[in-house]
Amino acid sequence: MEKAATTFFSIASVLMLMQCFLALGGGAANYTSSDESALLALKSHITYDPNHVLATNWSTNTSFCNWLGVSCRRRGQNRVTSLNLFNMGLKGTIPPQIGNLSFLTYFNISYNHFNGHLPAELGQLRRLKVFALQINDFSGDIPTSIFNVSSIQWINLWNNSLSGSLPNYFCSHLPKLTMLWLGFNEFSGDIPSHLGECRQLQHLALDGNRFTGFIPRGIGNLTLLKSLYLGRNNLQGELLPEMGNLRSLEELSLISANLTGSIPSSLFSISSLKVLDLRSNKLSGKHWVANSICYGVVEIIDANLLIPNDEPYAAKVQCVSAIMELALRCSADSPEERMNMRDVLAALKKIKILYLTNCG
Ligand SMILES: *[C@@H]1O[C@H](CO)[C@@H](O)[C@H](O)[C@H]1NC(C)=O
Ligand SMILES: *[C@@H]1O[C@H](CO)[C@@H](O)[C@H](O)[C@H]1NC(C)=O
Ligand SMILES: *[C@@H]1O[C@H](CO)[C@@H](O)[C@H](O)[C@H]1NC(C)=O
Ligand SMILES: *[C@@H]1O[C@H](CO)[C@@H](O)[C@H](O)[C@H]1NC(C)=O
Ligand SMILES: *[C@@H]1O[C@H](CO)[C@@H](O)[C@H](O)[C@H]1NC(C)=O
Ligand SMILES: *[C@@H]1O[C@H](CO)[C@@H](O)[C@H](O)[C@H]1NC(C)=O
Ligand SMILES: *[C@@H]1O[C@H](CO)[C@@H](O)[C@H](O)[C@H]1NC(C)=O
Ligand SMILES: *[C@@H]1O[C@H](CO)[C@@H](O)[C@H](O)[C@H]1NC(C)=O
Ligand SMILES: *[C@@H]1O[C@H](CO)[C@@H](O)[C@H](O)[C@H]1NC(C)=O
Repeated sequence: MEKAATTFFSIASVLMLMQCFLALGGGAANYTSSDESALLALKSHITYDPNHVLATNWSTNTSFCNWLGVSCRRRGQNRVTSLNLFNMGLKGTIPPQIGNLSFLTYFNISYNHFNGHLPAELGQLRRLKVFALQINDFSGDIPTSIFNVSSIQWINLWNNSLSGSLPNYFCSHLPKLTMLWLGFNEFSGDIPSHLGECRQLQHLALDGNRFTGFIPRGIGNLTLLKSLYLGRNNLQGELLPEMGNLRSLEELSLISANLTGSIPSSLFSISSLKVLDLRSNKLSGKHWVANSICYGVVEIIDANLLIPNDEPYAAKVQCVSAIMELALRCSADSPEERMNMRDVLAALKKIKILYLTNCG
């Protein structure tokens, strides 16, 4: 027993000594060369570089901290903190070595043609804050390790071909997430039931995917949300009254989401709301049009009716608004509230004159 304990402590001491030795620079821990090889691995995985940017600029003649799109921290060993290859027309894949850039906080390769799978090693980037891959061609399941990077604040994977489902509890590992933009991919499965735990979320876009199931109740807890896009999915059930708790919401789009039931009146008490798009659902509620008038008619009517560059836009908006208001007054609940036909005709004539004067 005692001998076993002594042996254990001897081994532990040797391990600790070895660790000190490495930390003091006596060994192979050159993280600078590790970062350099990670970047060179990325360079070698790029198959098309129309402006030869990486070919000419990413040269080992000079420190990688001077390479285009690369930024380093200023103290100690040179370590990559930021990689920005935005909109360079690049084609290629992301090698697993990227996971070695352990000081990386900002990764932006949006607007290129990167494809292939995202390596699970991305989950090793323990300091990552911004992960921007939107508008690329990435083909396969998203490695769930990414949803374990607790430092992450922005995830933008918009418009790729990523698939897979979101783990139900993914928010518990992402306490700082303010933006989750996954629209226009091939994600499937239920919207995570515990989504309400991502308390810092300000922008959430899951639209244009294959999500199924109900909108989770906890969504009403996301009181910092400014934009919410859930449309173009195969959801079911009704719009939740809890959505009225979203006091900061400016844009809500649930177009073509297979939702049923009536539109909760709580939605209309969100005074910050600027865009509300509920088209192509099976929702009922005439008061929807009436209430929406207060928020500006432009945002709720069919996009094809009014096109901003189609002159004279303002006059047309005025005309359409007038007709809609009239339609509402004609369809009021009680007969006493409805306009009589003579007044309706007079009003329509006025609108017609207005339209011909301003838009003719
Ligand atoms: C670490 O690697 C870099 C890049 O390869 C090199 O310039 C530097 O001399 C290396 N440092 C040490 C201490 O070996
Ligand atoms: C690479 O690009 C950066 C940023 O434009 C520039 O400062 C640097 O001199 C370039 N290096 C080479 C070798 O072209
Ligand atoms: C790098 O150095 C080599 C030889 O030292 C030289 O031939 C080459 O032109 C240099 N490349 C750049 C991009 O400066
Ligand atoms: C970097 O990453 C690769 C692949 O994930 C790994 O094989 C390699 O050992 C890592 N370390 C260094 C120092 O390159
Ligand atoms: C990516 O970089 C481009 C160009 O610098 C910038 O406009 C864009 O906002 C960046 N994306 C993110 C998420 O930071
Ligand atoms: C994410 O973290 C949780 C808890 O720490 C762990 O159980 C899970 O295996 C991790 N998942 C991945 C893909 O790393
Ligand atoms: C996605 O990006 C491609 C270009 O890479 C574009 O053609 C397509 O319209 C975009 N999809 C959406 C929904 O915007
Ligand atoms: C929403 O927040 C309340 C109060 O913090 C909490 O009790 C409730 O469980 C949360 N609901 C969901 C569905 O997360
Ligand atoms: C659409 O909603 C209905 C009723 O809630 C549901 O039965 C159906 O499965 C949904 N359709 C799809 C494709 O999910």
